[in-house]
Amino acid sequence: MSKALKRVLAAAIAASALVFCAAVPAGASDVSQAQQDLANQGQMLAELNCARCHSIKASGNSAAMGAPPMREFAQKWPLDALAEALAEGIVTGHPDMPEFVFTPDQISALMAFLETLAE
Ligand code: HEC
Repeated sequence: MSKALKRVLAAAIAASALVFCAAVPAGASDVSQAQQDLANQGQMLAELNCARCHSIKASGNSAAMGAPPMREFAQKWPLDALAEALAEGIVTGHPDMPEFVFTPDQISALMAFLETLAE
């Protein structure tokens, strides 16, 4: 193997290690494709179930009085706590809202979407 090729390989390995590490805290610029797909699913779920009351856009007011826009969710609650609340059935303080039952997969998708909204 030539020296140059070795150097290229070493750089490629270092780069993939970087990508791997960077994916863990799920920062803004390095959202992986899988994370993006998940977020898209979450957006669909939000559109179907939540958008008629909560704004799911980057700006603008919610359709329902008093319903916080979804982009503010991540600032108000740790997403882990929110995920837990959704899994248990988020009913408290939510009189007008139908009770939703989400699967863990749907909740991950919704959380991925909320993360993209919060950025
Ligand atoms: C029929 C209207 C309606 C729909 C549909 C709706 N919400 Fe809400 N939601 C509200 C209102 C109104 C509030 C404010 C309630 C309050 O503060 O008492 C709220 C508050 C919330 C809160 C804040 C926590 C709380 O209890 O105050 C969260 C989180 C939330 N909604 C999540 C969701 C999610 C996720 C969906 C879709 C799966 C959804 N909502 C669908 C009306 C709705």
